[in-house]
Parts: sequence; C-alpha cells; structure tokens
Amino acid sequence: MIRSLAVSVLYPAALVPLLFQHYAAAELLGCDAVGCPTNEYHVAQCKIGNATLQALGITNVTTTLDTRPLTWTVGFQEAPKDSISGHPEAAMALDKNFYLGTPPSMRFDNSTAGCALFFEGISANITVPQDKKNSFTCADALSEDCVSDLVRQAESAAKFAGNADACSQLRDSLTNKPPPSCNSVKGGTWGSVISRPLTGGNQSLEMVDQSQCRATTGQGYDLFLVDSERHYLTDRTTKALSQVILGITPVMTVLEKDGKAKAELTCLRLVDSVANQTDDEPHPSMGSPNGSLSSTMYLATLLVSAFLYVL
Ligand SMILES: *[C@@H]1O[C@H](CO)[C@@H](O)[C@H](O)[C@H]1NC(C)=O
Ligand SMILES: *[C@@H]1O[C@H](CO)[C@@H](O)[C@H](O)[C@H]1NC(C)=O
Ligand SMILES: *[C@@H]1O[C@H](CO)[C@@H](O)[C@H](O)[C@H]1NC(C)=O
Ligand SMILES: *[C@@H]1O[C@H](CO)[C@@H](O)[C@H](O)[C@H]1NC(C)=O
Ligand SMILES: *[C@@H]1O[C@H](CO)[C@@H](O)[C@H](O)[C@H]1NC(C)=O
Ligand SMILES: *[C@@H]1O[C@H](CO)[C@@H](O)[C@H](O)[C@H]1NC(C)=O
Ligand SMILES: *[C@@H]1O[C@H](CO)[C@@H](O)[C@H](O)[C@H]1NC(C)=O
Repeated sequence: MIRSLAVSVLYPAALVPLLFQHYAAAELLGCDAVGCPTNEYHVAQCKIGNATLQALGITNVTTTLDTRPLTWTVGFQEAPKDSISGHPEAAMALDKNFYLGTPPSMRFDNSTAGCALFFEGISANITVPQDKKNSFTCADALSEDCVSDLVRQAESAAKFAGNADACSQLRDSLTNKPPPSCNSVKGGTWGSVISRPLTGGNQSLEMVDQSQCRATTGQGYDLFLVDSERHYLTDRTTKALSQVILGITPVMTVLEKDGKAKAELTCLRLVDSVANQTDDEPHPSMGSPNGSLSSTMYLATLLVSAFLYVL
C-alpha cells in the first residue's frame, strides 16, 4: 500500500510507535450486527444516552494502544419535535451523532493526546461504488493520494502536548490548505470540519449509558458521545433525507504519544438494517422500491420509511 510505505519512510518503525494498523478495507456494520431493539414496525430503536438511534454504522480503528480496536459509530435519530420551533423553514430535524468506543482496558488519559476531526462539509459530495457500500476505505471515496496527503499533513501539523487548543488549531491548519490531490472532492475545499479533543482530564468525553442498546461491536466497550450535529430539513422527501442519512463522513483520528502524532482516516456511513424490513410491512406511500430504482434509492426509501414511521 502506497500510504504505509510513505509512512514507514517518514517514520522508521524503530523511532515511533506505530499507532495505527492498516487493513485493506474497513468493514461497516449496522443494527443487525449489534441486535438493536426495534419497535412494532421493526424499526431500530437504539437508546443510548439521551438519543434513540434508528440507524447505525460502526467501524473498527486498530491502534497499538491496545490489542483491541477502537470503534467509531455514526447514528441517526429524528430530533425532538420542539427542536425545530426556532426554525420556521424546517419541516424536521435529524441528529447525526458520532460515538467513540474504547476497550474497557483502555483510557484516554493524560499520557495520550488525541483529536477527532469530522469532515462533515463533504459528506454529501462523496460516494463509493455500490458493490463496496458496506466495506470501503476512504481511498474508495476520496482517492489514495488525497487520503495519504491529508494524513501526512495532519501528522506533521499536530502538536498536542500542553496545548489545550491544539485540536481546533489542527482543524484550522487542515481546512486552510487542502492538499492539491484532494481538489476533485469539492473543488479544493472541505467545508465544515468539526474538531473534538479526545484527551482525558478537563476535556474528558461524555460516556453514554448503553444498558438498553449496545451501539458498538466491541465486547464490553465504553462508548463516548464525541459529536452531535443537528441537520434541519425543509421537507421530508426522500431526496432531502437521503442527502443527510446516506452521506459518508471521513473521520480523522489523530493520536499523539511521546510527541509523535499518527493519524488515521476512516469513512463512516450508516448501514441499513435489512433483517426485518420485508415487503409485506406497511411501508408509507413512498413508492414501492423495485428493480427500477438503484439500490441506493432503495436503501434511502427504506430508511425514509423508517424515519416516517416514528413521527
Ligand atoms: C428481527 O426479527 C427477529 C425475530 O423476529 C428479532 O429477534 C430481531 O431482533 C429483529 N431484528 C431487527 C433488526 O429488527
Ligand atoms: C443529548 O446530549 C448532548 C450532550 O449533552 C446534547 O448536545 C444534545 O443536544 C442532547 N440531545 C437531545 C436530543 O437532547
Ligand atoms: C471489529 O473487530 C472485532 C474483533 O476485534 C470484531 O468482532 C468486530 O466485528 C469488528 N467490527 C467491525 C465493525 O468490523
Ligand atoms: C497525569 O495523570 C496522572 C494520574 O491521573 C497524574 O498523577 C499526573 O500528575 C498527570 N500528569 C499531568 C502532566 O497532568
Ligand atoms: C456538494 O453537495 C451539495 C449537496 O448535495 C451540493 O449542493 C453541492 O453543489 C456539492 N458541491 C460540489 C462541488 O460537488
Ligand atoms: C476546564 O477548562 C475550563 C475552560 O478552559 C475551565 O474554565 C475549567 O475551570 C476547567 N476545569 C477543571 C476542572 O480544570
Ligand atoms: C416499479 O415501481 C413503479 C412504481 O411503483 C412501477 O411503475 C414499475 O412498473 C415497477 N417496475 C417493476 C420492474 O416492477
């Protein structure tokens, strides 16, 4: 892999702990994999913390901080109805939440500094080939060069030690100067990039209650709400909803140990729960998905149905 080669040339393994291990393709798993509870319409109702998520996407990020991987989970819920009261143009709001899962043996204490960057501004602009939709790397969604350039840019810009604003400064330095190899993504801009420190101590993350639903594939993992984005939609059409719920969000995990930073880019998207959504279910009249629709539209229609059920 080009990227691993470049990294090992820049940072000989003997000098730097290799914080991430790379696999060919990261698998994405959803509610079917973790057995989300469902309502009477077989729509997932995964209550974690203060959210009730209706769709999940979960992926592993392997690090050498622990023998077990970290996990990232993206989850969607329709926001409470009163959330649109101050937004007269909005017909509904969706919350898109990001959770970090950590093995029980692992803590983000003050010896490891970290930062997560969510490239939300391009999530509606990138796609992956249909046959890879539940197993793709960011290189499928962006390009191999763009991913490796962005990762290298982050690793050389990250300086976390003793700097409480380091994560937002890293975000600013990346958004100010996207690598030329990423120009095709969105005309050389990232749009909105959200930064969240992953460090312990004062900026400790909010652990969520998983007693009703486990939203990570890691056994006994702790789950932390790292970011929550509210999207206001002006209508409830498939098009409007699918732009948000079918988006792919590149998530950059940057970890620093002994003054050296390593970054990993993971692309997150929800995975549809197909187990119990059969055609004899009373789907709302969104048009019946059939061979004339692309599978993406089929997925969107199922998901839109799922969201409409809970109104
Ligand atoms: C699907 O149905 C089975 C049996 O009816 C149930 O155990 C399971 O939780 C359901 N899963 C989903 C995702 O609805
Ligand atoms: C849930 O809690 C988070 C963090 O405390 C907050 O940002 C979010 O608005 C809450 N969501 C709802 C729907 O109450
Ligand atoms: C993550 O890795 C664990 C094994 O460590 C595996 O059981 C789990 O299914 C993986 N999760 C995903 C989303 O690939
Ligand atoms: C790091 O945490 C340990 C244990 O919580 C504490 O003893 C130590 O003083 C901390 N170091 C710094 C630099 O904050
Ligand atoms: C990115 O996606 C948004 C939403 O679909 C669209 O309005 C915008 O034109 C796209 N930008 C580019 C450069 O493709
Ligand atoms: C955490 O940081 C905030 C803002 O920098 C500060 O106001 C607060 O006192 C700190 N809390 C602790 C426990 O250090
Ligand atoms: C697909 O559905 C549309 C509208 O519901 C219908 O007009 C069309 O004939 C269907 N196509 C097939 C191949 O069943």
